[in-house]
Amino acid sequence: MEQERQQWRSKMGFLLAASGSAIGLGNIVVFSANAYKYGAGAFYLPYLIALVLVGLPVMWLEFGLGQTQQRAFPQAMGNIGGKWGEIAGWWALLNATIITMFYVAILGWVLGMWWKALMGTLWEPTAALMGFKMASLPNPTGSFFALISSWSNVIFVAIVWLLNIALVLKGARSIETGVKLMMPLMWLFMLVLVIVGLSQPNGIHGIYLLFTPNFKALGSYAVWNGAFSQIFFTLSLGFGVMTAYASYLPKKADHTTNALIVSTMNCSFEMISGLAIFTLVFAFALTPKASTLAMMFFVVPKGIAQLSVGYQVLGVLFFTLLLVAGLSSSISLIEALAAAVIDKFQFKRTKVILWIAGIGVLGSIACALPKIIDPGLASNGTLGLTILDLVDHYASKYGLLLVGIIECLIIGWMMPISKLREALNEHASIKIGVWFDVLIKFVIPILLLIPIALTVLDTMKKGLYGSKYVLGGINILPAATAIFWAAFTFGGAFLLTTLQASKNAKK
Ligand code: ALA
Repeated sequence: MEQERQQWRSKMGFLLAASGSAIGLGNIVVFSANAYKYGAGAFYLPYLIALVLVGLPVMWLEFGLGQTQQRAFPQAMGNIGGKWGEIAGWWALLNATIITMFYVAILGWVLGMWWKALMGTLWEPTAALMGFKMASLPNPTGSFFALISSWSNVIFVAIVWLLNIALVLKGARSIETGVKLMMPLMWLFMLVLVIVGLSQPNGIHGIYLLFTPNFKALGSYAVWNGAFSQIFFTLSLGFGVMTAYASYLPKKADHTTNALIVSTMNCSFEMISGLAIFTLVFAFALTPKASTLAMMFFVVPKGIAQLSVGYQVLGVLFFTLLLVAGLSSSISLIEALAAAVIDKFQFKRTKVILWIAGIGVLGSIACALPKIIDPGLASNGTLGLTILDLVDHYASKYGLLLVGIIECLIIGWMMPISKLREALNEHASIKIGVWFDVLIKFVIPILLLIPIALTVLDTMKKGLYGSKYVLGGINILPAATAIFWAAFTFGGAFLLTTLQASKNAKK
Protein backbone atom coordinates (compact mmCIF):
# COMPACT_ATOMS: atom_id res chain seq x y z
CA MET A 1 0.00 0.00 0.00
CA GLU A 2 1.26 3.46 -0.89
CA GLN A 3 2.24 5.79 1.94
CA GLU A 4 0.14 8.92 2.20
CA ARG A 5 1.93 11.81 0.45
CA GLN A 6 2.77 14.74 2.65
CA GLN A 7 1.33 18.23 2.15
CA TRP A 8 2.38 21.71 3.21
CA ARG A 9 0.38 22.95 6.17
CA SER A 10 -0.19 26.30 4.45
CA LYS A 11 0.39 28.10 1.18
CA MET A 12 2.68 30.48 3.07
CA GLY A 13 4.76 27.48 4.19
CA PHE A 14 5.18 26.43 0.55
CA LEU A 15 6.12 29.95 -0.60
CA LEU A 16 8.68 30.33 2.18
CA ALA A 17 10.15 26.89 1.50
CA ALA A 18 10.38 27.49 -2.27
CA SER A 19 11.92 30.92 -1.87
CA GLY A 20 14.16 29.57 0.88
CA SER A 21 15.38 27.03 -1.64
CA ALA A 22 15.99 29.73 -4.20
CA ILE A 23 17.70 32.19 -1.86
CA GLY A 24 21.08 30.81 -0.92
CA LEU A 25 24.80 31.26 -1.41
CA GLY A 26 23.95 31.89 -5.07
CA ASN A 27 22.20 35.13 -4.14
CA ILE A 28 24.60 36.49 -1.60
CA VAL A 29 27.99 35.73 -2.99
CA VAL A 30 27.76 34.05 -6.41
CA PHE A 31 25.65 36.92 -7.75
CA SER A 32 28.02 39.61 -6.50
CA ALA A 33 31.05 37.73 -7.80
CA ASN A 34 29.39 37.27 -11.20
CA ALA A 35 28.16 40.85 -11.32
CA TYR A 36 31.71 42.06 -10.69
CA LYS A 37 33.23 39.61 -13.15
CA TYR A 38 30.84 40.60 -15.92
CA GLY A 39 31.18 44.34 -15.56
CA ALA A 40 28.71 45.08 -12.72
CA GLY A 41 26.12 47.37 -14.37
CA ALA A 42 26.46 45.37 -17.57
CA PHE A 43 25.24 42.26 -15.85
CA TYR A 44 21.75 43.48 -14.96
CA LEU A 45 20.21 43.57 -18.39
CA PRO A 46 21.21 40.02 -19.44
CA TYR A 47 20.26 38.85 -15.97
CA LEU A 48 16.75 40.31 -16.22
CA ILE A 49 16.33 39.00 -19.75
CA ALA A 50 17.41 35.52 -18.58
CA LEU A 51 14.90 35.78 -15.74
CA VAL A 52 11.97 36.63 -18.01
CA LEU A 53 12.87 34.43 -20.98
CA VAL A 54 14.10 31.36 -19.13
CA GLY A 55 13.84 31.56 -15.34
CA LEU A 56 10.18 32.29 -14.89
CA PRO A 57 8.92 29.98 -17.68
CA VAL A 58 11.02 27.05 -16.40
CA MET A 59 9.72 27.66 -12.89
CA TRP A 60 6.16 27.51 -14.24
CA LEU A 61 7.12 24.29 -16.00
CA GLU A 62 8.57 22.69 -12.85
CA PHE A 63 5.69 23.85 -10.62
CA GLY A 64 3.16 22.74 -13.24
CA LEU A 65 4.81 19.32 -13.43
CA GLY A 66 4.47 18.81 -9.68
CA GLN A 67 0.93 20.14 -9.72
CA THR A 68 -0.35 17.91 -12.51
CA GLN A 69 1.54 14.72 -11.61
CA GLN A 70 1.54 15.04 -7.79
CA ARG A 71 4.82 13.18 -7.80
CA ALA A 72 8.52 13.94 -7.32
CA PHE A 73 10.62 14.76 -10.40
CA PRO A 74 11.60 11.28 -11.78
CA GLN A 75 8.12 9.81 -11.45
CA ALA A 76 6.54 12.96 -12.87
CA MET A 77 8.95 12.91 -15.82
CA GLY A 78 8.35 9.15 -16.17
CA ASN A 79 4.59 9.68 -16.38
CA ILE A 80 5.19 11.85 -19.43
CA GLY A 81 8.31 10.47 -21.07
CA GLY A 82 8.15 6.79 -20.06
CA LYS A 83 11.34 4.96 -19.09
CA TRP A 84 13.64 7.59 -20.63
CA GLY A 85 11.72 10.33 -18.89
CA GLU A 86 12.27 8.60 -15.56
CA ILE A 87 15.97 8.09 -16.29
CA ALA A 88 16.30 11.80 -17.09
CA GLY A 89 14.51 12.61 -13.83
CA TRP A 90 16.84 10.51 -11.69
CA TRP A 91 19.83 11.84 -13.59
CA ALA A 92 18.76 15.38 -12.66
CA LEU A 93 18.40 14.47 -9.00
CA LEU A 94 21.76 12.72 -8.83
CA ASN A 95 23.43 15.67 -10.53
CA ALA A 96 21.77 17.85 -7.88
CA THR A 97 23.07 15.48 -5.19
CA ILE A 98 26.62 16.17 -6.32
CA ILE A 99 25.87 19.88 -6.00
CA THR A 100 24.47 19.20 -2.51
CA MET A 101 27.73 17.47 -1.60
CA PHE A 102 29.93 20.47 -2.37
CA TYR A 103 27.31 22.98 -1.26
CA VAL A 104 27.29 21.42 2.21
CA ALA A 105 31.10 21.33 2.19
CA ILE A 106 31.10 25.10 1.60
CA LEU A 107 28.53 25.52 4.37
CA GLY A 108 30.88 23.55 6.63
CA TRP A 109 33.57 26.15 5.90
CA VAL A 110 31.04 28.90 6.58
CA LEU A 111 30.36 27.30 9.95
CA GLY A 112 34.10 27.10 10.64
CA MET A 113 34.53 30.80 9.81
CA TRP A 114 31.45 31.61 11.88
CA TRP A 115 33.09 29.88 14.83
CA LYS A 116 36.33 31.80 14.32
CA ALA A 117 34.39 35.07 14.10
CA LEU A 118 32.53 34.22 17.29
CA MET A 119 35.76 33.40 19.09
CA GLY A 120 37.39 36.53 17.67
CA THR A 121 40.25 34.58 16.09
CA LEU A 122 39.17 35.26 12.50
CA TRP A 123 41.07 38.53 12.26
CA GLU A 124 44.08 37.64 14.38
CA PRO A 125 47.54 38.01 12.83
CA THR A 126 48.35 34.85 10.89
CA ALA A 127 51.32 34.11 13.12
CA ALA A 128 48.75 33.07 15.69
CA LEU A 129 47.42 30.34 13.41
CA MET A 130 49.10 27.40 15.02
CA GLY A 131 50.88 25.03 12.71
CA PHE A 132 49.81 26.87 9.59
CA LYS A 133 52.57 27.11 7.02
CA MET A 134 51.24 29.90 4.80
CA ALA A 135 51.89 32.59 7.40
CA SER A 136 52.54 35.20 4.73
CA LEU A 137 48.84 35.37 3.84
CA PRO A 138 46.94 38.28 5.35
CA ASN A 139 43.84 37.57 7.38
CA PRO A 140 41.05 36.53 6.99
CA THR A 141 42.45 34.78 3.90
CA GLY A 142 45.03 33.09 6.10
CA SER A 143 42.34 32.02 8.56
CA PHE A 144 40.33 30.46 5.76
CA PHE A 145 43.24 28.50 4.35
CA ALA A 146 44.25 27.42 7.83
CA LEU A 147 40.71 26.12 8.31
CA ILE A 148 40.43 24.17 5.07
CA SER A 149 43.99 22.86 5.33
CA SER A 150 43.24 21.09 8.56
CA TRP A 151 41.04 18.12 9.35
CA SER A 152 38.92 20.27 11.67
CA ASN A 153 36.98 21.46 8.62
CA VAL A 154 35.64 17.94 8.20
CA ILE A 155 34.02 18.21 11.63
CA PHE A 156 32.24 21.41 10.61
CA VAL A 157 31.04 19.74 7.41
CA ALA A 158 29.67 16.82 9.43
CA ILE A 159 27.85 19.23 11.77
CA VAL A 160 26.16 20.91 8.80
CA TRP A 161 24.97 17.50 7.58
CA LEU A 162 23.47 16.87 11.02
CA LEU A 163 21.64 20.21 10.83
CA ASN A 164 20.30 19.23 7.42
CA ILE A 165 19.11 15.86 8.72
CA ALA A 166 17.29 17.55 11.61
CA LEU A 167 15.54 19.93 9.22
CA VAL A 168 14.35 17.34 6.68
CA LEU A 169 13.64 14.42 8.97
CA LYS A 170 9.95 15.17 9.19
CA GLY A 171 9.70 16.32 5.57
CA ALA A 172 7.39 19.20 4.70
CA ARG A 173 6.48 19.59 8.38
CA SER A 174 9.99 20.19 9.70
CA ILE A 175 11.03 22.14 6.60
CA GLU A 176 8.05 24.45 7.02
CA THR A 177 8.85 25.07 10.68
CA GLY A 178 12.50 25.70 9.79
CA VAL A 179 11.87 28.16 6.96
CA LYS A 180 9.34 30.12 8.99
CA LEU A 181 12.19 30.93 11.33
CA MET A 182 15.00 31.17 8.80
CA MET A 183 13.44 33.40 6.15
CA PRO A 184 12.67 36.42 8.39
CA LEU A 185 16.15 36.06 9.94
CA MET A 186 17.76 36.17 6.50
CA TRP A 187 15.92 39.34 5.49
CA LEU A 188 16.70 40.96 8.82
CA PHE A 189 20.41 40.18 8.66
CA MET A 190 20.62 41.31 5.06
CA LEU A 191 18.95 44.57 5.97
CA VAL A 192 21.52 45.19 8.71
CA LEU A 193 24.34 44.55 6.22
CA VAL A 194 22.82 46.96 3.68
CA ILE A 195 22.37 49.68 6.31
CA VAL A 196 25.95 49.28 7.51
CA GLY A 197 27.26 49.27 3.93
CA LEU A 198 25.24 52.31 2.89
CA SER A 199 26.21 54.29 5.96
CA GLN A 200 29.93 54.02 5.17
CA PRO A 201 31.35 57.21 3.63
CA ASN A 202 32.50 55.57 0.38
CA GLY A 203 29.84 52.89 0.19
CA ILE A 204 27.98 54.81 -2.48
CA HIS A 205 30.77 54.05 -5.00
CA GLY A 206 29.75 50.41 -4.88
CA ILE A 207 26.22 51.36 -5.87
CA TYR A 208 27.47 53.52 -8.74
CA LEU A 209 29.51 50.65 -10.07
CA LEU A 210 26.71 48.15 -9.65
CA PHE A 211 24.02 50.26 -11.30
CA THR A 212 25.87 52.11 -14.00
CA PRO A 213 24.94 50.34 -17.21
CA ASN A 214 27.71 49.43 -19.58
CA PHE A 215 26.00 48.55 -22.82
CA LYS A 216 29.26 47.70 -24.56
CA ALA A 217 29.61 44.60 -22.40
CA LEU A 218 26.37 43.22 -23.82
CA GLY A 219 28.32 42.19 -26.89
CA SER A 220 30.37 39.77 -24.81
CA TYR A 221 29.10 36.20 -24.91
CA ALA A 222 30.61 35.53 -21.46
CA VAL A 223 28.17 38.00 -19.88
CA TRP A 224 25.18 36.19 -21.37
CA ASN A 225 26.62 32.83 -20.46
CA GLY A 226 27.06 33.99 -16.85
CA ALA A 227 23.52 35.40 -16.70
CA PHE A 228 21.81 32.20 -17.88
CA SER A 229 23.83 29.98 -15.52
CA GLN A 230 23.19 32.37 -12.64
CA ILE A 231 19.41 32.37 -13.20
CA PHE A 232 19.24 28.57 -13.22
CA PHE A 233 21.29 28.17 -10.08
CA THR A 234 19.72 31.00 -8.14
CA LEU A 235 16.12 29.96 -8.83
CA SER A 236 16.94 26.32 -7.93
CA LEU A 237 15.90 25.18 -11.39
CA GLY A 238 17.07 21.86 -12.82
CA PHE A 239 17.36 20.40 -9.30
CA GLY A 240 13.93 18.71 -9.21
CA VAL A 241 13.22 20.78 -6.10
CA MET A 242 10.41 22.95 -7.43
CA THR A 243 8.50 19.93 -8.75
CA ALA A 244 8.75 18.05 -5.44
CA TYR A 245 7.75 21.13 -3.45
CA ALA A 246 4.78 21.89 -5.76
CA SER A 247 3.61 18.28 -5.52
CA TYR A 248 3.04 18.82 -1.79
CA LEU A 249 0.31 21.37 -2.58
CA PRO A 250 -3.19 20.42 -3.77
CA LYS A 251 -3.88 20.40 -7.53
CA LYS A 252 -5.92 23.57 -7.32
CA ALA A 253 -2.98 25.77 -6.28
CA ASP A 254 -2.29 28.92 -8.29
CA HIS A 255 1.25 28.18 -9.43
CA THR A 256 1.43 30.97 -11.98
CA THR A 257 1.25 33.49 -9.17
CA ASN A 258 3.39 31.32 -6.88
CA ALA A 259 6.25 31.33 -9.39
CA LEU A 260 5.97 35.10 -9.76
CA ILE A 261 6.17 35.54 -6.00
CA VAL A 262 9.10 33.15 -5.55
CA SER A 263 11.16 34.60 -8.38
CA THR A 264 10.45 38.17 -7.28
CA MET A 265 11.44 37.37 -3.68
CA ASN A 266 14.59 35.64 -4.90
CA CYS A 267 15.72 38.28 -7.35
CA SER A 268 14.98 41.20 -5.03
CA PHE A 269 17.00 39.49 -2.30
CA GLU A 270 19.77 39.06 -4.84
CA MET A 271 19.77 42.75 -5.79
CA ILE A 272 19.76 43.79 -2.13
CA SER A 273 22.67 41.41 -1.46
CA GLY A 274 24.52 43.05 -4.36
CA LEU A 275 23.98 46.42 -2.65
CA ALA A 276 25.25 45.15 0.69
CA ILE A 277 28.33 43.43 -0.69
CA PHE A 278 29.33 46.16 -3.15
CA THR A 279 28.91 48.97 -0.61
CA LEU A 280 30.88 47.11 2.07
CA VAL A 281 33.65 46.28 -0.33
CA PHE A 282 33.87 49.72 -1.91
CA ALA A 283 33.62 51.55 1.37
CA PHE A 284 37.03 50.18 2.18
CA ALA A 285 38.48 50.44 -1.32
CA LEU A 286 38.90 46.70 -1.57
CA THR A 287 38.94 45.02 -4.94
CA PRO A 288 36.05 42.61 -5.28
CA LYS A 289 36.93 39.14 -6.50
CA ALA A 290 35.30 37.34 -9.37
CA SER A 291 35.58 34.10 -7.41
CA THR A 292 32.68 33.21 -5.16
CA LEU A 293 34.84 31.68 -2.46
CA ALA A 294 37.17 34.68 -2.37
CA MET A 295 34.21 37.04 -2.11
CA MET A 296 32.64 35.02 0.71
CA PHE A 297 35.69 34.18 2.76
CA PHE A 298 38.26 36.94 2.07
CA VAL A 299 36.86 40.13 0.64
CA VAL A 300 33.64 40.73 2.57
CA PRO A 301 35.09 39.63 5.95
CA LYS A 302 38.04 41.94 5.27
CA GLY A 303 35.65 44.83 4.61
CA ILE A 304 33.76 44.04 7.80
CA ALA A 305 37.02 43.94 9.77
CA GLN A 306 37.70 47.56 8.82
CA LEU A 307 34.60 48.87 10.56
CA SER A 308 35.63 50.94 13.53
CA VAL A 309 32.99 49.44 15.83
CA GLY A 310 31.03 46.21 15.95
CA TYR A 311 33.06 44.32 13.38
CA GLN A 312 32.99 41.10 15.38
CA VAL A 313 29.19 41.19 15.74
CA LEU A 314 28.81 41.95 12.05
CA GLY A 315 31.23 39.16 11.12
CA VAL A 316 29.19 36.66 13.11
CA LEU A 317 26.02 38.04 11.55
CA PHE A 318 27.42 37.73 8.01
CA PHE A 319 28.39 34.07 8.46
CA THR A 320 25.09 33.31 10.22
CA LEU A 321 23.29 34.79 7.23
CA LEU A 322 25.28 32.61 4.82
CA LEU A 323 24.64 29.54 6.93
CA VAL A 324 20.90 30.10 7.26
CA ALA A 325 20.45 30.98 3.58
CA GLY A 326 22.55 27.98 2.54
CA LEU A 327 20.70 25.57 4.82
CA SER A 328 17.27 26.59 3.52
CA SER A 329 18.61 25.68 0.05
CA SER A 330 20.48 22.47 0.88
CA ILE A 331 17.45 20.99 2.67
CA SER A 332 15.39 21.48 -0.48
CA LEU A 333 17.94 19.56 -2.54
CA ILE A 334 17.91 16.70 -0.07
CA GLU A 335 14.11 16.73 0.10
CA ALA A 336 13.81 16.52 -3.71
CA LEU A 337 15.77 13.24 -3.71
CA ALA A 338 14.07 11.88 -0.59
CA ALA A 339 10.63 12.59 -2.09
CA ALA A 340 11.55 10.67 -5.25
CA VAL A 341 12.91 7.63 -3.39
CA ILE A 342 9.88 7.53 -1.10
CA ASP A 343 7.46 7.96 -4.03
CA LYS A 344 9.02 5.06 -5.89
CA PHE A 345 10.17 2.60 -3.26
CA GLN A 346 7.84 3.50 -0.39
CA PHE A 347 10.69 3.23 2.11
CA LYS A 348 10.40 4.87 5.49
CA ARG A 349 11.49 8.54 5.46
CA THR A 350 14.02 8.20 8.31
CA LYS A 351 15.80 5.38 6.49
CA VAL A 352 15.88 7.35 3.22
CA ILE A 353 17.22 10.50 4.86
CA LEU A 354 19.94 8.58 6.67
CA TRP A 355 21.01 6.88 3.43
CA ILE A 356 21.14 10.17 1.56
CA ALA A 357 23.07 11.81 4.40
CA GLY A 358 25.45 8.84 4.65
CA ILE A 359 26.38 9.04 0.97
CA GLY A 360 26.23 12.84 0.92
CA VAL A 361 28.60 13.30 3.84
CA LEU A 362 31.23 11.17 2.08
CA GLY A 363 31.03 13.42 -0.98
CA SER A 364 31.19 16.53 1.18
CA ILE A 365 34.22 15.19 3.02
CA ALA A 366 35.95 14.57 -0.32
CA CYS A 367 35.38 18.26 -1.07
CA ALA A 368 36.80 19.16 2.33
CA LEU A 369 39.99 17.10 2.17
CA PRO A 370 42.89 19.10 3.57
CA LYS A 371 46.24 19.56 1.91
CA ILE A 372 48.02 17.03 4.09
CA ILE A 373 46.85 14.30 1.71
CA ASP A 374 48.80 15.93 -1.06
CA PRO A 375 51.38 18.39 0.27
CA GLY A 376 52.10 19.44 -3.33
CA LEU A 377 48.90 21.48 -3.26
CA ALA A 378 50.10 23.71 -0.45
CA SER A 379 50.38 26.92 -2.39
CA ASN A 380 47.18 26.60 -4.37
CA GLY A 381 44.55 25.45 -1.93
CA THR A 382 43.72 21.93 -0.91
CA LEU A 383 42.89 18.67 -2.57
CA GLY A 384 39.25 19.04 -1.50
CA LEU A 385 39.00 22.53 -2.97
CA THR A 386 40.27 21.23 -6.30
CA ILE A 387 37.78 18.37 -6.31
CA LEU A 388 35.02 20.82 -5.40
CA ASP A 389 35.90 23.12 -8.24
CA LEU A 390 35.95 20.29 -10.74
CA VAL A 391 32.63 18.69 -9.76
CA ASP A 392 31.08 22.15 -9.69
CA HIS A 393 32.22 22.56 -13.28
CA TYR A 394 30.47 19.38 -14.46
CA ALA A 395 27.36 19.53 -12.30
CA SER A 396 26.57 23.27 -12.45
CA LYS A 397 27.94 24.38 -15.81
CA TYR A 398 26.65 21.39 -17.80
CA GLY A 399 24.33 19.34 -15.59
CA LEU A 400 21.78 21.94 -14.53
CA LEU A 401 21.42 23.47 -17.99
CA LEU A 402 21.17 20.05 -19.63
CA VAL A 403 18.35 19.16 -17.26
CA GLY A 404 16.66 22.39 -18.34
CA ILE A 405 16.89 21.40 -22.00
CA ILE A 406 15.68 17.84 -21.38
CA GLU A 407 12.68 18.83 -19.26
CA CYS A 408 11.62 21.44 -21.83
CA LEU A 409 11.84 18.87 -24.63
CA ILE A 410 10.12 16.00 -22.81
CA ILE A 411 7.31 18.03 -21.28
CA GLY A 412 7.12 20.45 -24.19
CA TRP A 413 6.73 17.84 -26.90
CA MET A 414 5.44 14.70 -25.19
CA MET A 415 2.90 15.96 -22.67
CA PRO A 416 2.42 18.31 -24.67
CA ILE A 417 3.05 21.71 -23.12
CA SER A 418 -0.38 23.15 -24.01
CA LYS A 419 -1.89 20.63 -21.56
CA LEU A 420 0.40 21.81 -18.76
CA ARG A 421 -0.37 25.44 -19.57
CA GLU A 422 -4.11 24.76 -19.42
CA ALA A 423 -3.67 23.01 -16.05
CA LEU A 424 -1.70 25.98 -14.72
CA ASN A 425 -4.26 28.46 -16.07
CA GLU A 426 -7.24 26.62 -14.64
CA HIS A 427 -6.59 27.91 -11.12
CA ALA A 428 -4.50 30.96 -11.97
CA SER A 429 -5.41 34.59 -11.50
CA ILE A 430 -2.89 35.56 -14.20
CA LYS A 431 -3.24 33.40 -17.31
CA ILE A 432 -0.26 32.33 -19.42
CA GLY A 433 -0.54 32.66 -23.21
CA VAL A 434 0.49 30.42 -26.10
CA TRP A 435 3.85 32.20 -26.24
CA PHE A 436 4.78 30.01 -23.25
CA ASP A 437 4.52 26.90 -25.46
CA VAL A 438 6.87 28.46 -28.01
CA LEU A 439 9.38 29.37 -25.31
CA ILE A 440 9.42 25.87 -23.82
CA LYS A 441 9.44 23.92 -27.07
CA PHE A 442 11.91 25.98 -29.08
CA VAL A 443 13.43 29.08 -27.55
CA ILE A 444 14.66 27.87 -24.14
CA PRO A 445 16.33 24.64 -25.36
CA ILE A 446 18.27 26.65 -27.92
CA LEU A 447 19.12 29.41 -25.45
CA LEU A 448 20.42 26.88 -22.93
CA LEU A 449 22.48 25.08 -25.50
CA ILE A 450 24.51 28.21 -26.14
CA PRO A 451 26.09 28.55 -22.66
CA ILE A 452 26.86 24.83 -22.65
CA ALA A 453 28.63 25.04 -25.99
CA LEU A 454 30.51 28.16 -24.91
CA THR A 455 31.68 26.50 -21.70
CA VAL A 456 32.98 23.53 -23.70
CA LEU A 457 34.91 25.86 -26.02
CA ASP A 458 36.24 27.90 -23.11
CA THR A 459 37.38 24.80 -21.26
CA MET A 460 39.13 23.48 -24.35
CA LYS A 461 40.99 26.74 -24.62
CA LYS A 462 41.94 27.31 -21.00
CA GLY A 463 41.95 23.82 -19.50
CA LEU A 464 40.40 22.94 -16.18
CA TYR A 465 41.44 24.41 -12.87
CA GLY A 466 42.61 21.05 -11.59
CA SER A 467 44.67 20.19 -14.67
CA LYS A 468 47.85 21.48 -13.16
CA TYR A 469 47.62 19.21 -10.16
CA VAL A 470 49.48 15.99 -10.07
CA LEU A 471 48.51 13.16 -7.81
CA GLY A 472 50.99 10.36 -7.30
CA GLY A 473 52.89 11.46 -10.38
CA ILE A 474 49.84 11.28 -12.67
CA ASN A 475 47.59 14.17 -13.67
CA ILE A 476 44.36 12.43 -12.86
CA LEU A 477 42.10 14.80 -10.95
CA PRO A 478 40.04 16.27 -13.82
CA ALA A 479 39.55 12.85 -15.40
CA ALA A 480 38.76 11.13 -12.11
CA THR A 481 36.13 13.69 -11.14
CA ALA A 482 34.55 13.55 -14.61
CA ILE A 483 34.37 9.76 -14.40
CA PHE A 484 32.90 9.97 -10.91
CA TRP A 485 30.29 12.52 -12.02
CA ALA A 486 29.27 10.49 -15.07
CA ALA A 487 29.21 7.14 -13.24
CA PHE A 488 27.30 8.51 -10.25
CA THR A 489 24.68 10.34 -12.29
CA PHE A 490 24.21 8.10 -15.35
CA GLY A 491 24.90 4.79 -13.59
CA GLY A 492 22.69 5.76 -10.66
CA ALA A 493 19.87 6.95 -12.93
CA PHE A 494 19.78 3.66 -14.85
CA LEU A 495 19.93 1.67 -11.64
CA LEU A 496 17.18 3.59 -9.87
CA THR A 497 14.93 3.37 -12.94
CA THR A 498 15.48 -0.36 -13.33
CA LEU A 499 15.00 -1.24 -9.67
CA GLN A 500 11.39 -1.95 -8.89
CA ALA A 501 9.68 -1.22 -5.63
CA SER A 502 9.39 -4.46 -3.73
CA LYS A 503 5.82 -5.14 -2.61
CA ASN A 504 6.80 -5.26 1.01
CA ALA A 505 9.66 -2.77 0.83
CA LYS A 506 8.17 -0.19 3.14
CA LYS A 507 9.34 0.35 6.70
N1 ALA B 1 19.27 28.45 -5.31
C1 ALA B 1 20.27 28.12 -4.37
C2 ALA B 1 21.30 29.19 -4.27
O1 ALA B 1 21.18 30.19 -4.93
C3 ALA B 1 20.87 26.78 -4.71
O2 ALA B 1 22.23 29.05 -3.53
